Amino acid sequence: MHELIYLDNAATSHPKPEAVYLAMDAALRRGASPGRGGHQQALSAERMVFEAREALADFFNADNSEQFVFTPNATLAINLALFGLLLPGDRVVTTCQEHNAVSRPLRALQDRGVSVVKVPAGEDGVVSAAALKQACLQDKTRLLVMNHCSNVYGAFQPVEDLGPWCREQGILFMVDGSQSAGCLPIDFQALQVDLFAAPGHKGLLGPQGTGFLYVRKGLQLTPLIYGGTGGSSHSDLPPEHFPERLECGTLNTPGLAGLKAALGFLQQVGVDKVRAHELQAIEKLLVGLRAIPGVKVYGPESALNRGAAISFNLVQHDPAEVGFLLDQNHKICLRVGLHCAPDAHRAIGTYPGGTVRVSPGYFTTQQEIDTFLAAVDAFAQKASSR
Ligand SMILES: Cc1ncc(COP(=O)(O)O)c(C=O)c1O
Repeated sequence: MHELIYLDNAATSHPKPEAVYLAMDAALRRGASPGRGGHQQALSAERMVFEAREALADFFNADNSEQFVFTPNATLAINLALFGLLLPGDRVVTTCQEHNAVSRPLRALQDRGVSVVKVPAGEDGVVSAAALKQACLQDKTRLLVMNHCSNVYGAFQPVEDLGPWCREQGILFMVDGSQSAGCLPIDFQALQVDLFAAPGHKGLLGPQGTGFLYVRKGLQLTPLIYGGTGGSSHSDLPPEHFPERLECGTLNTPGLAGLKAALGFLQQVGVDKVRAHELQAIEKLLVGLRAIPGVKVYGPESALNRGAAISFNLVQHDPAEVGFLLDQNHKICLRVGLHCAPDAHRAIGTYPGGTVRVSPGYFTTQQEIDTFLAAVDAFAQKASSR
């Protein structure tokens, strides 16, 4: 029997580049708290955190690394942005494709008087730019917030078109890049985003416990969390400047050392090459799954319009059963259910049971995909002969 096959990269990428493990180990052994002391060890930790921020700014072609606020995950980054920005009476447009990391804060804000308009997707899971623009123009809109790529069926959303349009209209534009950061070339200057949130632990290949919020220079947010920032200690008010305004408490230094190493790895390989590798895997999975009788694949037809999250079901089978048997009998790790995005399932008729989601990553091999497809095929054949 083969080793374990990991096809759950949309949840968190695995494995990480070797340099990530080494950098984290070294940082933990070095110790010291960044920004919290003038001794050499603390200064060296601070320098490393600065370099990690610079690496992010370089990776996303952002104007200024200070505008990157480190968080433990994408969820906190999204919460910092939405709660820091929106006030009762504001109007927000979003999509029916969002992860609960966006939908739940918006729901909480709705209960406080923010008006939230959700635009549905077409059958392929793509929300049309025209429909979003129309919704934005129906009334005075403060913010358009949406994901770049669905975590359920990988549909790319038309963010490239919407960023510049929002800027023209004076509408703030926020992207949840949880499923695209590290998997696709992303340029903040071209995208014209005001806010961009992403985890460090998915496509960016960093460790869990890392993430960030990018805030366009000049946009002020009310902090969500208050506390020590290492400087301006005389004041009981949070500092005005970034990133400290939104970033307080001791940072995850080993995690950020890992994230910095992961960004170095991605820069060395090149995101184009990462995308090309994942695209090959997505194509192989789409062709292979669609050829198995009884399998229904959701999301855009073409691999070119998708990221690396592929949802499918075996007709008349509970996805939980399929996932359980693939794990138990074939040591294949993937995710089943609603994937924290219930609206996306309502759109394709897979609510409440959900789907089986297979998500390859940069380290997934063709051989692993063949083994996975053979296992699904065997399951489908056995099921049809019962
Ligand atoms: C689209 C999307 N947004 C947000 C998140 C939340 O990410 P994190 O677990 O890092 O908070 C995820 C994670 O699955 C996601 O897929």
